[in-house]
Amino acid sequence: MTILVTGGAGYIGSHTCVELLNAGYEIVVVDNLYNASVKSLDRVKELANKDFPFYEADIRDKDAMRKIFAENKIDAVIHFAGLKAVGESTRKPLEYYDNNIGGTLALCEVMREAGCKKIVFSSSATVYGMNNISPLKEDMKTGGTTNPYGTTKYMIEIILEDLQKADPEWSVTLLRYFNPIGAHKSGRIGENPNGIPNNLMPYITQVAIGKLPFLSVYGNDYDTPDGTGARDYIHVVDLALGHVKAVEKILSSESAVNIYNLGTGIGYSVLDIIKAFNKAYGKEIPYKIVERRPGDIATCYADASKAYDELGWKAERDIEEMCEDSWRWQSQNPNGFDD
Ligand code: NAD
Ligand code: UD1
Repeated sequence: MTILVTGGAGYIGSHTCVELLNAGYEIVVVDNLYNASVKSLDRVKELANKDFPFYEADIRDKDAMRKIFAENKIDAVIHFAGLKAVGESTRKPLEYYDNNIGGTLALCEVMREAGCKKIVFSSSATVYGMNNISPLKEDMKTGGTTNPYGTTKYMIEIILEDLQKADPEWSVTLLRYFNPIGAHKSGRIGENPNGIPNNLMPYITQVAIGKLPFLSVYGNDYDTPDGTGARDYIHVVDLALGHVKAVEKILSSESAVNIYNLGTGIGYSVLDIIKAFNKAYGKEIPYKIVERRPGDIATCYADASKAYDELGWKAERDIEEMCEDSWRWQSQNPNGFDD
């Protein structure tokens, strides 16, 4: 079976490519390299010891996408390609709506023409908005997103659900990721953010490597055990394995819309993460408590039982392993894929 992976050169995509190849799938990757290096795919090939076709193309370019479907028999698509920086999305909403929504529409049109109607989509816990109480469950009301990035995820979920309703031959799996961190054990692939990272773990690892002076902890007056924000951090390899399970199901079962949280079900605070990271690092990273970051909530973690019940998937890697693997990747590749 052959899986087209859009955005396959990126952080989650590259880890998923390795696990798909390890599980015996053929893959085809399309990525415009806007936020990735082609070197990540060389390393995927090295890690899995397998080759696969790569198309450097934008998913909004329908002719380029038609060529991919003409040249390969694609059984299902995992759709990672998109823009993902929350802060940037508030400054560049048109670019975010165009890329994320325009990209998904173009992709689905070409899939329909090619008769390939199985799609696994990268959604986010952000679709639960600000008002649901954790643990978050798939049947809770979504929406009330607070930035254009989050709104694209919410809108794409609706678009794909409408598509499946209109044409029941479609199979749609919406995977709502919690907070992916960590890296492949080898230290050969990992997250490589552009500029100053917004997310906690890449910020911590850049402090540890000496690129940034200290971590700002955004608030210690939340209603959580130690006052800092609590999140459901999930190892990117566990997340990748969740995609392998989702693909297995979408290829073998009746057409439907299925929605799964991919998280661990545990909320760790910022101070918990600092402590776990220091253990892996062998030193203490400097931090300062500062004001809350606008738009943050106190606590966000998954009820991950549906993915276990229906996909037989659960996250296996603990917070110490996540920190060790993040640190190995950063310390071995201080300049990302340029090393
Ligand atoms: P990433 O930026 O590393 O990967 C996205 C990839 O898509 C990049 O390689 C980029 O070059 C490519 N891309 C972007 N626009 C494209 C286009 N128009 N055509 C072709 N390729 C394009 O991000 P990631 O962290 O691996 O995230 C993958 C997906 O998961 C994204 O859709 C993201 O929104 C979603 N997601 C990520 C997180 C997270 O914390 N990392 C959380 C929830 C959801
Ligand atoms: C953020 C996005 C969310 C997106 C997710 C994955 C916001 C408001 N939310 O989620 O939409 O889906 O990333 O890309 O941006 N923290 C610090 N100092 C830092 C960075 C973070 O204290 O320098 C804290 C935050 O306040 C939070 C926790 O660490 O409590 C995790 O933050 P982050 O990694 O940015 O993820 P989210 O806020 O959960």
